[in-house]
This record gives sequence, structure tokens and C-alpha cells, in this order.
Amino acid sequence: MTSPRIEPFKPLTERIERDIMDLARIRDADNPGWTREVFSSSYRESREWIGAKMSDAGLEVHRDETGNIVGVLHGSSPSAPALVTGSHTDTVVGGGRFDGVVGVLGSLELVRQLRERNMTLTRDLIVVDFLGEESNDFGLSCLGSRALAGELTSLDFDRRNGDGIRLGDTYTEFGLDPSDVLCADWARRLPLHCYMELHIEQGPLLRRKEASIGIVTAIAGIERLIAYFEGRPDHAGTTPMDDRRDAMVAAAQAVLSVQREGCGAPVHGVATTTRLASLPASPNVVPGAVQLRAEMRSIDDEWFSAAKRRLAAEIVSKAREQHVDVKLEWTSDNPIVATSGDIHDVVARSADSNGLTWEAVPSGATHDAVHFSRLCPMGMIFIPSLNGRSHCPEEWTDFSEISAGVQVLGSSLLALDKEDHVS
Ligand code: GLV
Ligand code: MN
Ligand code: MN
Repeated sequence: MTSPRIEPFKPLTERIERDIMDLARIRDADNPGWTREVFSSSYRESREWIGAKMSDAGLEVHRDETGNIVGVLHGSSPSAPALVTGSHTDTVVGGGRFDGVVGVLGSLELVRQLRERNMTLTRDLIVVDFLGEESNDFGLSCLGSRALAGELTSLDFDRRNGDGIRLGDTYTEFGLDPSDVLCADWARRLPLHCYMELHIEQGPLLRRKEASIGIVTAIAGIERLIAYFEGRPDHAGTTPMDDRRDAMVAAAQAVLSVQREGCGAPVHGVATTTRLASLPASPNVVPGAVQLRAEMRSIDDEWFSAAKRRLAAEIVSKAREQHVDVKLEWTSDNPIVATSGDIHDVVARSADSNGLTWEAVPSGATHDAVHFSRLCPMGMIFIPSLNGRSHCPEEWTDFSEISAGVQVLGSSLLALDKEDHVS
């Protein structure tokens, strides 16, 4: 790779702030924080707003077959492999205003800057607001980017949420035809140069290291566990303590085992129990059946497989002590994904030439970038999160910090536009 000159790039912070605050008004008022879940009516409304904003910024906009909103800024050489950037604008229940949003709305400021300065890229710049990045009740994250990478299958449409509703029917209700979703292949047909995503860090590392910019080294893999504990329902008032098969006690031991594994990870590794459901959930019955849901994340393959094996063995042996049977089901949400070394170098030079400090950091959160890495070289830029908090209403990043992120994203894309090859 050559080392093209890094162009200085100055986004308008007030415009980014106004856009983020305007989008934050479109939310589900019945839920806490800034809730805009995929397929909800507030999400539907927000997508109209995003489409209009993309057009105003000067992009040629369409909604693709998978429900992504796609905006194109044409470059001078239509046949050159395109640059892609973007993120998502759905939130978790009780989420914040910045997760995903800075990558989408920051990219729009970048496009406005390019147009106002009459700067024409050689390559097309494609900005995408991906459908439903957050993990949903169907247990699947990154719906839009997964589909573009060809990683969403017809079997996924048969997944059901807690109310028994099929994912495929939910797509139809939202105005998307599942068979069209499976055929959406524009990102696999087009020659792509690289993908870059700007995102809040959602953790404490950048603040601790007093760095303005994070260059992501790898995105953690995610393994999800469902454990079914089968004991025996009995009268909670009369059954002697030493004659019980209490599924809840076995599940509670498993919660602690999950936590222990997470605490033992040598590099970034975490483990979280996210749900326990008891059947019957009666106040006077010893729980006979409990379902536990947990997830583990890591950027270290070796630790990951050993930790999964250890955890499974410990859950089974502790359940046995309670005379409880247990069945474990693992599914993989995404594998560990490394970022591009070339993009890392360009982002480092962009940060340096913009006078911004940077650190190389792993990502414990998952991103649409995971799926785009199947299609072309991928890189991510992080900006700090106040107190490392995210997925909560307190999630915050100063607008000047967001502006710095857009600055580095802009300089990096300008440099990558001039590169013949990225790997
Ligand atoms: C999304 O934010 C995730 O990491 O689950
Ligand atoms: Mn996100
Ligand atoms: Mn998120």
C-alpha cells in the first residue's frame, strides 16, 4: 500500500448535534430512555426521517430488498470498487442516543462536507443505515448487514419470538418480502474497496487511556447458550429440603459459573446470564423447569473454546448435585473477526495528522462491520463513551468527540479512495 497524503477534514459539530437530537425525538414513549426497536412504529417513522436526511445531504437514496436504507454519492470513476460506510439507528429497549446513530448521521455530515467543498471522490461512497443491528426477541442481531453478506437463511425466518410470532411474518408486516430479502445481493455483486464504521466505544478503555480515537483490532465473537433445567415440581411448604429436585437452584449455580468464566478471561472476554424463566412460576411450588439464557464473548479463540467446554461441564455437574437434568444448546451469533491492517494504518495516520491521540482497542460489542468483513476489508473507528456506559439512557459522547471521529473517518476515506488496493 502507498501512503497518500492525509487531507484535513473539518465537520460542523453543531450540524451533527442537531441531527442526533432530532432523531432522538423519534422514540417509543412507552419505554424508558431512547427506545426505537427494529420493526416498531417509532423505527418505521425514523426510517422515513433518515431517508429524507440522506437525500438532503445529497445522496441518491433507496431502500434495498432487505430493508437497509442506502445512499450513494457518485464518484468520478463508476467502475472503481466502492467505499462503504454506515451503521444502525435501531436501539435496545431503554437505550441511548448514540449507539449506531453516530456512524449514520456522522457519515451524512461527511457527505455534506465533501459536496460543499466540491470534493469529488474517485470511487462511489455508499452510506448504509442497516436494518435492525441490535439483538432482537428472535435472537438474531445485524439483520440488514447479515442479509447482505448472504448469512441470513430461510431457516432464520422460522425463528419465533416469545409470543410465538415468526420472524418471516414480522418482515412481511413491516413491508419486506422474505424471499426478496434472501435474494438481496447488491453488496456481493458490486466490487467493494473497503468498509469503515464509526461507532461509540461503549466501554471504558479510551477514557482510561485518555485517547480521542480507538482503532479497533478485532470484534469479539459471540456464543449464545440456552440451558434447560429439568427437576421436579413439588409443594414448596411440605417437601423436605433434602428431597427436592429444584431446577432454580441448579440454574442459580449456573449463573455463578457463567460469571466465574467471564472473570477468568485473560484478554477481552465476558460472560453474562441474560434471562431465567421458571415453570411453573408459582409462589408455592418448587420450580420443576427453568430455562436460562446466557452469552459469552471473546476475541481469543483458544480461551473461547476451552471456556465453553469448562462451563458446560460445570453446569452439568452442579445440576447433578441437585438431582436436576440439564440440556445445553449453543448457537454462534458471530465468530471473532479481525480488522484490516491497511485500514488500521490509514486511520492511525489520519488521527496523527488531525492532532488526535489514538489507541488500538478490541470491540466487545458486535457491529454490522462483522458481516461486511465477509465482503471486503473492514475497519472501525471508536470514539469515547462517558463512564464507558452504553445500552442505557445515560449513554453519552460529547459532540466535539463525535466531530473528531467524523474528522478521522473523513480523512481516512479520502486516503483510502486513492489507494489502488486495501487488504
Ligand atoms: C450490540 O450492541 C451487541 O453488541 O450486542
Ligand atoms: Mn451499535
Ligand atoms: Mn448496541
